[in-house]
Amino acid sequence: MTQKVRKAVLPVAGLGTRFLPATKAIPKEMLTIVDKPAIQHVVDEARAAGIEHFVFVTGRNKGAIEDHFDIQFELDRTLRDRSKIKELDLLAADLPAAGQTSFTRQQAPLGLGHAVWCARDIIGDEPFALLLPDMLHYGKQPCLKGMIADFDSHGGNIVAAYAVPESDTSQYGIVGVKAAGAHQAITEMVEKPKAGTAPSNLAISGRYILRPEIFSILETQERGAGGEIQLTDAMIKLAKQQPFYAYHFDGEVFDTGMKIGFLLANLALGLDHAELGAPLRAALMDRLK
Ligand code: UTP
Repeated sequence: MTQKVRKAVLPVAGLGTRFLPATKAIPKEMLTIVDKPAIQHVVDEARAAGIEHFVFVTGRNKGAIEDHFDIQFELDRTLRDRSKIKELDLLAADLPAAGQTSFTRQQAPLGLGHAVWCARDIIGDEPFALLLPDMLHYGKQPCLKGMIADFDSHGGNIVAAYAVPESDTSQYGIVGVKAAGAHQAITEMVEKPKAGTAPSNLAISGRYILRPEIFSILETQERGAGGEIQLTDAMIKLAKQQPFYAYHFDGEVFDTGMKIGFLLANLALGLDHAELGAPLRAALMDRLK
């Protein structure tokens, strides 16, 4: 029987240079998408998929993330004194239960592969989910939920992918697949292929289910593109020993680590928001007249 995916790694130690100066003093994961920090949207996705333990790989200046997932005693007391029950319920709904979070530190931002490796002791010898918090997945079904259902049926390692324009493939990790369809065997993975050499237009979207053997590969993984320890390089090695499948996410993916992706995510989620959707639409129509 396949082992259950119980734990998720959320690497949040990156510098967020593409979003400076906004990210000089505030972690990019704490920038708000409509009415919640970006990281909360991703934790909600993981909870909806049944994840029981959240492992945050943090770095310098990321204390606000840890505070966000803790009780703010003074705030709670003030809200209680003022009978702000709705607000108290809102805060409680966002909070993982006691003991469900772990924080480990990546002392230097040596790359995503290195950040994942920093979580090895907390994950131990079991398959785990990896969610990049700056990639917001927006669709009918939470992306990770579909991936876990796939994993429960087929096992292996799973990488979520989505179609990007052919002209943009050199900006992403790209997977080559055996055939079309929702659950496809991956034949090739390449990090930022040179223009015209990509095996497909399916980009890795920042959601993974990986087996724990990835950690021993990361242990000795040398620096790759950009002088960073690349997760894709380690996955290419693991794919020689274990099957990898692509999960085609049926929804929209926003790179909220980029200014334009962040704005588009706010628009998409804002227009669908129960209270804000109608006034936002009206204001936009007015502005675009
Ligand atoms: P990015 O490639 O978006 O890097 O990382 P970044 O440093 O956050 O942002 P830019 O490129 O400078 O604007 C993808 C994810 O991996 C994490 C980031 O926090 C982000 O969630 N990461 C990246 C780490 O945790 N450690 C690293 O060394 C690099």
